Amino acid sequence: ISLTVYPTGGNASSPIMYGLMHEDINNSGDGGIYAELIRNRAFQGSDRFPASLEAWSPLNNHSVLTLKKSTPQPLSAALPNSVNVARSQKKNGTLGLVNAGYWGMDASLQSAITGEVFGSVEVPSRLNATATSGGGWVQHEFVLVPGKKAANSNNTFAITFDAADLKDGSLDFNLISLFPPTYKNRPNGLRVDIMEALAELNPKFLRLPGGNMLEGNTISTYWKWNETIGPLKDRPGMAGTWNYQLTTGLGLVEYMHWCDDLNLEPIVAVYSGLALDGAYTPASQIHTDVQFALDELEFLTGDAATTKWGAVRAQILGHTAPWKVKYVEIGNEDWLAGRPTAYDAYKQYRFGAFLSALGEKYPDVQVIASPSVFDGMVIPAPAAGDYHPYLTPDEFVLQGFGRFDAMGRGNLTLIGEAASVHPNGGIGWDGNLMANPWWGGSVGEAVFLIGAERNGDKVIGATYAPGLRNLNRWQWGVTLMQHAADPSLTTRSTSFYVWKLLGNHAIAKTLPVTATSGGFGPLYYVAGKGAKGTGIFKAAVYNTTQPVPVSIRFEGIAKQGAKATLTVLTGPENPYGVNDPFTRVNVVEEKASTLKAGRGGVFEFSLPRLSVAVLETEA
Ligand code: AHR
Repeated sequence: ISLTVYPTGGNASSPIMYGLMHEDINNSGDGGIYAELIRNRAFQGSDRFPASLEAWSPLNNHSVLTLKKSTPQPLSAALPNSVNVARSQKKNGTLGLVNAGYWGMDASLQSAITGEVFGSVEVPSRLNATATSGGGWVQHEFVLVPGKKAANSNNTFAITFDAADLKDGSLDFNLISLFPPTYKNRPNGLRVDIMEALAELNPKFLRLPGGNMLEGNTISTYWKWNETIGPLKDRPGMAGTWNYQLTTGLGLVEYMHWCDDLNLEPIVAVYSGLALDGAYTPASQIHTDVQFALDELEFLTGDAATTKWGAVRAQILGHTAPWKVKYVEIGNEDWLAGRPTAYDAYKQYRFGAFLSALGEKYPDVQVIASPSVFDGMVIPAPAAGDYHPYLTPDEFVLQGFGRFDAMGRGNLTLIGEAASVHPNGGIGWDGNLMANPWWGGSVGEAVFLIGAERNGDKVIGATYAPGLRNLNRWQWGVTLMQHAADPSLTTRSTSFYVWKLLGNHAIAKTLPVTATSGGFGPLYYVAGKGAKGTGIFKAAVYNTTQPVPVSIRFEGIAKQGAKATLTVLTGPENPYGVNDPFTRVNVVEEKASTLKAGRGGVFEFSLPRLSVAVLETEA
């Protein structure tokens, strides 16, 4: 195929074309990007997941652990439970409790196998007046510096004490928290290796929080932003929608720090009055949900001196400077739960109530509805939509590539979640999701994303979902990355490489391209200009057994002798090949080469079957 790219025409592309989305699924927050090492640190519970001693065990057979309600003096209203550690016989000796972490700990503390201690610290008792007279809580802070490196992450954390020092032979504990060094050393921060991997993607936005977690299973169990802020002792946690209790230690402010640290545009998703079971807020009450969303935005963006929630932000966080929020999404997948009645309510009053209130108070904010025009739903202007294609690779190519060409210019859309999840020729949602992203699926995603980039003025941006999966407990297999306590298991999936390549060559403006022959397929492509004036060509080859020879020239950008870098991703012969977190086999090959334009400024190369490539000229 022979292509000519013209220097004028085309359209401006979104400056935030690739990004991230996060919800706590697959222990991607607790036990994932949130760096806390202690699992079940505060014995949080809910109707759905009653408080328990999960992950805790007695140090030895003299120690007895009992979960109890800390009455009459709870640590806080939010954290009413604690663990009592008592002696089993009236014998003195060492007592204690042990935490298994999120299936191990990448910290040299104590080997779970041999019991060897790698690091310990003595914490002197500082009983206060109330405590000596029976029952006050005392906070102990300590720094643990391991004296020796552990051989692996099969480690535990233990608190031990001498029963002889106690009047009644027992102690109560709550909020037992331990952090390793975090990304940019944030207190209560994020895991370094995962953040570093995400930074490689060159993301530009974070949809926070996305997914079902925002909605909650029932009308009363949605993600309440105001219960995720402030000191950890004031966060009750919540019943997650993905079968485990959440600490909400990774809360609204931590999401904003994540944005600050990776320079991401926050896409703040607010609760829309619809739960996953299809229940929704009646018209007479919708103003409370709207006010809840307005308060959240005021907390994030309000002036510390003149607004109620801006002052709260400044007082509890010392974060005087407001954040900037340009995008607000109303809910998550409003097209899914409770059709048709919840949809009627969406059309009649739910969405409109949010749209007008936000429009009035924050006229510069781009409001995003949680469905898209592709879900058969109306998106009232000036809102944008949110499209979540979870498809087969063939669907991404056959329906996905041209999707945005056909979409009207007035239908600005976020691609707030996307992934190849089912194999071609299978039974779709009646079958299981694939266990991991696979190479053929990742190339299908590339074709779709190239189609989106061709319409970079109609698309706000795109993100893969879900992003993360803890290999020890998960609900959704196909994720961009997988991880466990041991950082050497952090795995970049086949899709990770595709999204990374596309995300690292940002097109500022698309440019018109003509081809000497044929339409799209088996080569799918987009051309454009980078912010520094480089010529950029992105392509994917799908559904052919043969390599595709390409010659391309960028009129007005690259003359004879100009140089360009061609980066090509290829996978295994078998399109179902995966980057396996357990065998650590990586099937994606990335090759970069420098090309020189020949006569007429033409670059010539050949792209293998099932490949994804980017050519970018030198500035
Ligand atoms: O990404 C997994 C789930 O898929 C999200 O929670 C939901 O929004 C979608 O249906």
